[in-house]
Amino acid sequence: MIPNNSGREQWGSRVGFILAAAGSAVGLGNIWRFPYLAGENGGAAFIFVYIFCVLLIGIPVLIAEVLIGRSAHKNPVGSFKSLHPSPFWHSVGGIGVIAGFVILSFYTVVAGWTLGYIYEAINGNLLQYSLPDIAQSHFSELLANAYWNVGLLTAFILLTMGIVYFGVQKGIERGSKIMMPMLFILLLILMIRGLTLEGASKGLEYLFNPDWSKITTGVVLAAMGQAFFSMSLGMGAMLTYGSYMSKKDNLPAASIWIAALDALIAIIAGISIFTVVFATGQNPDVGPSLIFRTLPVVFTKIPGGFYFSILFFIALTLAALTSTVSLLEVVTAYFVDEKGWSRRKAVVVFGFAALLLGVPSALSFNLLADFKFGEFTFFDLSEFLSSNLLLPIGGFFISIFVGWVWGFDKVRNEIRQGAESLFDKHPWLLNYWKFILRFVAPVLIIVILLSSIGII
Ligand code: PFF
Repeated sequence: MIPNNSGREQWGSRVGFILAAAGSAVGLGNIWRFPYLAGENGGAAFIFVYIFCVLLIGIPVLIAEVLIGRSAHKNPVGSFKSLHPSPFWHSVGGIGVIAGFVILSFYTVVAGWTLGYIYEAINGNLLQYSLPDIAQSHFSELLANAYWNVGLLTAFILLTMGIVYFGVQKGIERGSKIMMPMLFILLLILMIRGLTLEGASKGLEYLFNPDWSKITTGVVLAAMGQAFFSMSLGMGAMLTYGSYMSKKDNLPAASIWIAALDALIAIIAGISIFTVVFATGQNPDVGPSLIFRTLPVVFTKIPGGFYFSILFFIALTLAALTSTVSLLEVVTAYFVDEKGWSRRKAVVVFGFAALLLGVPSALSFNLLADFKFGEFTFFDLSEFLSSNLLLPIGGFFISIFVGWVWGFDKVRNEIRQGAESLFDKHPWLLNYWKFILRFVAPVLIIVILLSSIGII
């Protein structure tokens, strides 16, 4: 990053922004969460609704969120403060900060598993699994161990804290420039191997041949929540990253790149995993353990599987780290900018607070497995509340703010900067975007949310 005229740091280039934002977007959401949700929600029907949500709501809201940050050059709460006097809007930034904190607490539990799997891979443990059932029982054994879960959670939070404290740009940005392409190549190899397994076509059919009768409001809510989660939307992470963006950059084009990379990686992960699930006659709907039971099986079936498995879990851990860093960064930026805390204090206090909140999530797979809120364990509840409720609610208010409240003349002026030729060539784009933000996104989000809690 380089300082701009006002002294605030800026990304070195448009590609710098795209890579950092894609680093936040691409993570466990694509490789762990997307496949298991697709498996639980009927496969292709879920995927089509998901893509529809990305195109219709996700991209316009992403553009709106980044625009707020780029215009105000502040953290989520500070940005709303500098664009609008009402405390109501400042609290919208606040909801984002809370959502980010809750996501951090359960996300690091799963990120801890991937960290633990680096060790399993190095030990050669993953190569013993010729069938998902054997891989599953090993994974279940690990999950049943409370020390394994809490220990890895703690390790992952400390790693995240260290990076947010010591240098996001030099460490994570540089690291992700190497690891993200590596993750992509490894996933492509896994996908090709999956596709060449006997019986793989059943997996493709499951992924791409929709049974529309499977679509329920629950499926639509899960798909929309996943679109927000995967694009890191609705909680100010993209807003904060946008605050380091130059007004010379083409914001809509950059946002479309981020969304496209994010969706592409999710689909490739989906193909890699479901071809194995069906080629080995497994059930797709096993939930969060899905990748840990399928991927080890593919590693046994490719030459050099030992090295691939190590590299894969390292790359996945780093992809998760670029996301957890963006989550902790939002809370940190808020307390540094708005409350005058030192960066060190904010990182230490909220890192440990996230750890405390994460412990019951880590224990949801063992000691607290029977401690339930309705059907939900503590982990499920954190995931549901933050991803399926808080993120869409954040997205709703971002749409309303940019569509109705900010003043569309100002919005037009801001969004055009760096994208003049795009809007001169296609003037309808602006009206289309405004229409989506004013009507389509808020109405759809509200309808889906209300029906999910049984009100309509
Ligand atoms: N988008 C990340 C993923 O798909 O793994 C998760 C995430 C990161 C969500 C940052 C929200 C966020 F602010």
